[in-house]
Amino acid sequence: MTETAAPLPAPDVRIISTGLFTPPHSITNEELVEAFNAYVERFNEEHAGAIAAGETAPLQPSSAAFIEKASGIKARYVLDKDGILDAGRMAPRLAPRGNDELSVLAEIAVAAARDAMRAGDIGPQDIDGVICAASNMQRGYPAMAVEIQDALGVDGFGFDMNVACASAAFGIETGLGLIRAGARRILMVNPEICTAHLNFRDRDSHFIFGDVATAVILERADEPSHGEAWDILGTRLKTRFSNNIRNNFGFLNHCERADGGDADRQADPFTDKLFKQEGRKVFKDVVPMVGELIAGHLADVGVDVGDVKRFWLHQANLSMNEFIARKVLGRDATREEAPVVLDAYANTSSAGSIIAFHKHRDDFAVGEVGVISGFGAGYSAGSVIVRKAA
Ligand code: COA
Repeated sequence: MTETAAPLPAPDVRIISTGLFTPPHSITNEELVEAFNAYVERFNEEHAGAIAAGETAPLQPSSAAFIEKASGIKARYVLDKDGILDAGRMAPRLAPRGNDELSVLAEIAVAAARDAMRAGDIGPQDIDGVICAASNMQRGYPAMAVEIQDALGVDGFGFDMNVACASAAFGIETGLGLIRAGARRILMVNPEICTAHLNFRDRDSHFIFGDVATAVILERADEPSHGEAWDILGTRLKTRFSNNIRNNFGFLNHCERADGGDADRQADPFTDKLFKQEGRKVFKDVVPMVGELIAGHLADVGVDVGDVKRFWLHQANLSMNEFIARKVLGRDATREEAPVVLDAYANTSSAGSIIAFHKHRDDFAVGEVGVISGFGAGYSAGSVIVRKAA
């Protein structure tokens, strides 16, 4: 603790367990690039005349070496592999389900939630509320969280929230607030079917995302402990508007389509409703924003940066994480200090920092401190400082 910092109040909320659902299929960069390049070849053949006349630009092939060098990603887990690698389709095949069936987003959230409940020895009767915090909800309503709550047999309440890749950090802060308002335990889930909003025909971004679901259970600190616990020493949130990561899918699409929309949308109604980003600008804007957020948060909570054992950062881009850790630490972080899961999972939006926390915390001794941080579209960023409890 610094000399000037006021003594911290005793932590009143803790994380008692996490859960992870990893889809059964993985796609390597090489497989993805092969499908993309087959699409490029087909497009260029079909438009050979227009390309020769200078009316259409030929598409450029993708490269597995570029993807790994630019992002650190080597593979990604996906709910459906065949549809993505089908050069005539390039989108996952997720069969529509009837209203009486569990929806696919809820299904993966339930799998992660059950994993967390098993790990924390928590039954549905022990949970007072469910937060579904993710970048993409499967529908407008009923809320995904209410369906997940029902599937798990949880009494109480559920609601959805979306702060893009920062959703988990915002969800933890929201769960903490609900516990301070009287709840005993809150389950927060992050189901992310990122491949469904990714344009696999876009060379700049076709490699970015994967699918996964994570879950976190938060508990009032005076509940009898079941085992592992992580005191939450502080949470901090930050948003700043930017269009540099954007997805225009929404409920107004129906009337926009009826009106004809603008020229761009008429030309390509499909891609405007998928993920788009200015990757370089995102990099330049978000690195300092997150670095300052974490460093300022640690200082205000009275934790010396040198006492932080681990940074469980959002997993979008390897060099982005390296820059952020360097900005906070004043030197390069080791892989042990800032673990990487994006090599195998790619960007899984809000779930990334929770996967890192889930997989890389077994070596913590009581009293050691780490930071969970998510950041992305909005822009949005969140920091959660945790300390391993007795
Ligand atoms: N295969 C081969 N070459 C490619 C390519 C591909 N798939 N995609 C782009 N390139 C080329 C470009 O044409 C460009 O070539 P040029 O220099 O001749 O013009 C070059 O590679 C660099 O492209 P650029 O888009 O500037 O790459 P980058 O180094 O910025 O990396 C990202 C791209 C997306 C990996 C990177 O910007 C990023 O991760 N940004 C942050 C993303 C992020 O965190 N988003 C949050 C989402 S939640």
